[in-house]
Amino acid sequence: MEARLPLEPGSLVIRRLSLRDFRNYRDRVFYLRPGFTYISGPNAVGKTNLLEAIFYLTALRSPRRARDQDLVRLGTGGFRLEGEFHGTGGAMRVEVCYRVQEGKRIVVDGVARRPSEYVGRANAVFFAPDDLLLIKGSPAGRRDFLDGLLTRLYPLFGRWQNTYQRALAQRNAALKRGQAGAVEMWEEQMALPAARVVLARVKALRRLAARLSLYLGDITDGREELSLSYRASLRTLDIADAAETLAGKFAVAWKQDRAKDLASGITAVGPHRDDYAFILDGQDGRQFASQGQQRTIILSLKLAELDFIADVRRERPILLLDDVLSELDASRREYLLRTLSGTTQTIMSGTEPPEAVGGGQIAFSCIRLGE
Ligand SMILES: Nc1ncnc2c1ncn2[C@@H]1O[C@H](COP(=O)(O)OP(=O)(O)OP(=O)(O)O)[C@@H](O)[C@H]1O
Ligand SMILES: [Mg+2]
Repeated sequence: MEARLPLEPGSLVIRRLSLRDFRNYRDRVFYLRPGFTYISGPNAVGKTNLLEAIFYLTALRSPRRARDQDLVRLGTGGFRLEGEFHGTGGAMRVEVCYRVQEGKRIVVDGVARRPSEYVGRANAVFFAPDDLLLIKGSPAGRRDFLDGLLTRLYPLFGRWQNTYQRALAQRNAALKRGQAGAVEMWEEQMALPAARVVLARVKALRRLAARLSLYLGDITDGREELSLSYRASLRTLDIADAAETLAGKFAVAWKQDRAKDLASGITAVGPHRDDYAFILDGQDGRQFASQGQQRTIILSLKLAELDFIADVRRERPILLLDDVLSELDASRREYLLRTLSGTTQTIMSGTEPPEAVGGGQIAFSCIRLGE
């Protein structure tokens, strides 16, 4: 089962991955090929950890929201990951060293880089069964997904988000101390970044929804229609507003809320309280989507995310599918593999033997763990 699928130019490929004291890995090197790779093995051998390491090398954070110190192999003081990528810009070697005491250091092609200089240069999309929670789970999970994507694509977004979060924390602290003057001062700092964060989210949702609908239509033969609807805590939001206009509306809302917020000690309005919903055939997916529908929607969302990143970065990201194939029925599995074939390096994991995947139709490289 050799991979004989050359990828079209324009996709990112990881060729080599080395892990040291990362999760359950003491010291290990993997060589990877373009096309499809299937990582098989029994439970708890390190399949998810391997995919997590690849994602970490691109985003400098765990796709599972684990903290850096949780990634360090128990009993050691830090980890080291190294990846060799090939993409539109040629070859790139990335090294990340994390020490519990000192934090992380990133070296790209021999040059030390700050995280903000590197994040976004290499991209991956991670898809695990837990992602189904995006539809019915907490608003925080949905915000994380969207903000994480925007942070990796647009360095400025991360800065607006940080500025907003820091000022918000200060306003909340001032609310708890009952210092109305300080509260007002922090509102001024919060208004413009809040507006920019919200407008960027709305724009991204619109782009994602357009692609998502195409995939969903394909998979369900056009039977299901889906839109993504932004639920703003600011009632006066108009998505056509310029950032300055919207910032003005935030300022007005916070001023009006000040007495109430001083009593409760929290800021009731702002991007930190916003949400979005998956509207399926006119109904809110939170209440109505069946298990199978959720799976199909999230599959379409992940394909849409791939396209979105590819559009912005002019390079197809790597797709990491953790334990996802076994959860899809035969026709969805076939659709997924057909859609990705020849365009996307796809690294998948599962406990089934490789023979059970792909129905013999598709060429795979295999990595067997735990043998
Ligand atoms: N920081 C750590 N240090 C040492 N071992 C760890 C650390 N974090 C996780 N592990 C161990 O790594 C092992 C492999 O975990 P992983 O989630 O990758 O398994 P998996 O192959 O995906 O299994 P499954 O098929 O159940 O999903 C687990 O036994 C886990 O306890
Ligand atoms: Mg796993």
